[in-house]
Amino acid sequence: GLTGIQTLLLSRIRDVADHPEPGVMFKDITPLLADPAAFSALSDVLSGIARSTGATKIVGLEARGFILGAPVAVRAGLGFIPVRKAGKLPGATLSQAYDLEYGSAEIEVHAEDLTERDRVLVIDDVLATGGTAEASLKLIRRAGAEVVGLAVLMELGFLGGRARVEPALAGAPLEAL
Ligand code: PRP
Repeated sequence: GLTGIQTLLLSRIRDVADHPEPGVMFKDITPLLADPAAFSALSDVLSGIARSTGATKIVGLEARGFILGAPVAVRAGLGFIPVRKAGKLPGATLSQAYDLEYGSAEIEVHAEDLTERDRVLVIDDVLATGGTAEASLKLIRRAGAEVVGLAVLMELGFLGGRARVEPALAGAPLEAL
């Protein structure tokens, strides 16, 4: 069964058929963001994960990982680091390419934002194929930091993302709320 918080969160996620293309059921979190009780409850749960993993930094994945991760960083008293789509960050970056169903994508982080002393919790809204999360975990490792966990609001289990990210997690937990 679901916990009370899970029931609340699930009730604030809207299924949108055929977005962004036919055959895809989009999981829209804007009703959750618009509900202060639900958004606050989500931030509380994620902050608890940040504390229990001993994270020193929160990495948020563009774009909804920024919205979910930033309040967690503030609440847990940690720095927030954005991982962005290629070409957006102005400073010296590390880049990581990854395969999509058709073609490829690339994400980046500012090289100076992570150090060997950092323990990083990665936050995003959805784990789908796992490509974005896997690439972000590789980026964080290449920056010299330690990955202490990956936390997502939703895991679309039928897409097999968990198996894809597990090697890059190297034993760190994947928490799907
Ligand atoms: C979505 C979602 C995750 C990612 C999950 O972002 O927010 O970041 O895809 O998919 P994956 O597990 O198959 O990699 P999207 O690419 O739509 O970017 P956006 O939030 O910037 O629109």
